[in-house]
Amino acid sequence: MKVLFIGDVFGEAGRNALRASMDTIKSKYRPDFTIANGENTAGGRGISYNTAQEIFNTGIDAITMGNHTWSRKEILRIIDSGINIIRPANYPKGVPGKGRMVLEKNGLKLAVINLLGRVYMDSTVDCPFQIVDREISFLKGQADCILVDFHAEATSEKVAMGYYLDGRVSCMVGTHTHIQTADEKILEKGTAYISDVGMTGPFGGVIGVDKELIIKKFTLGMPIQHEVAKGKVQINAVIIDIDDQTYKASKIVRINEVFNI
Ligand SMILES: [Fe+2]
Ligand SMILES: [Fe+2]
Repeated sequence: MKVLFIGDVFGEAGRNALRASMDTIKSKYRPDFTIANGENTAGGRGISYNTAQEIFNTGIDAITMGNHTWSRKEILRIIDSGINIIRPANYPKGVPGKGRMVLEKNGLKLAVINLLGRVYMDSTVDCPFQIVDREISFLKGQADCILVDFHAEATSEKVAMGYYLDGRVSCMVGTHTHIQTADEKILEKGTAYISDVGMTGPFGGVIGVDKELIIKKFTLGMPIQHEVAKGKVQINAVIIDIDDQTYKASKIVRINEVFNI
């Protein structure tokens, strides 16, 4: 089984980058499943019905979210409509949506779990370690293997989660920082791991936002209105090979391309 995971899709630039590159990436890597983090899809903050459809139309099977899940009210209208979008599983009980889903294609079943980190994050959420245990037990017998998107700031929390999940899930990918890390590996018991997949969006901004605005924010300390950076775009992703007998990962490769559109 091959799984393609796309790092946080940021604004129109990210959606355009996906549209421009998905055909080539799909014909090169031939993934069975393609998942994208979509928390920044609409103007860099949150997701809307239309931007979600744009993402799905490029051939993405499912969307995971993160700390920007609730940045747009529109999410509340769509998250329980049967759409393939999940939000972090460790939000408190009673929150709309689901933190896990099972995708089925080509006779294969892949479960996806979304989690939010607690270190240097602004949300008050349940312990991601305890919640992932709950989600994995719930999924027993429902899928061949599991991918976890751990949306977190601190590399230490992500590395710890990777080892915590080693051998229990086929892959753990980190998201949120928008900067792709070069630490992709297969852990001892067969889990493919990367601390952060990176971002699909503007190449020249500060994690997606116009650089001059962010420099102003840091130098003057005044609040600014975020605008998606213009210019070149990038696609950041990973492609993971999973053995169809053992469901252990055998390979994880980073994708990092910059282009003009
Ligand atoms: Fe993000
Ligand atoms: Fe985030």
